[in-house]
Amino acid sequence: MSKQDTHFFNIFSVVLGLLVLAAILIFALSRHLGHALQFTALQTDPMVARVMESRTGIPARIAVAGQDNTALVIQPVVAASAGTALAVPENGDALYEVACKACHGEGLAGAPKTGDKAAWAPRIAKGKEMLYEHAVKGFTGTTGVMPAKGGRTDVPDELVKAAVDHILAL
Ligand code: HEC
Repeated sequence: MSKQDTHFFNIFSVVLGLLVLAAILIFALSRHLGHALQFTALQTDPMVARVMESRTGIPARIAVAGQDNTALVIQPVVAASAGTALAVPENGDALYEVACKACHGEGLAGAPKTGDKAAWAPRIAKGKEMLYEHAVKGFTGTTGVMPAKGGRTDVPDELVKAAVDHILAL
């Protein structure tokens, strides 16, 4: 090997060594930063906590023959969603309370206020059938937007008509 080659290899080894050292330093630095910046955030994240709990919790969900295992019964999803579904109001008065009063009670968003004779007179003049239809199907007039069935599209038309009667009677 010539002297030049030896010289080259020496330099090459030093450069390689420096690169490896730099890589280790960058690795250590990123670990350190990651720990400082992310670890606490992860620890306080409720989702992470839940996953940790599910992994480290006591595996108590084991059915034992001859014992009361009712707590382990898998509840059908349907039952849960049926419980959260909105109940259909009993009559027009009740529907008014839950679906119409929000706007018509105070005359919000351009809604004719319940009991305001002047606001209702020109509407009543259109005929009750027209009012029923607008309440059921929705209506955009000159003062605002009346949503179909006041947003309760799950209730029968008859109930909405009863609610209109209720508004007109107040
Ligand atoms: C989001 C607010 C809002 C809710 C909730 C709402 N209304 Fe209205 N309603 C309006 C507005 C606004 C108008 C006026 C529209 C116009 O004339 O520009 C109106 C108009 C009406 C009219 C008159 C329609 C016409 O032809 O002049 C009737 C009847 C009526 N609503 C009934 C009801 C009933 C019944 C309910 C409950 C089931 C209900 N509204 C719920 C906003 C609402």
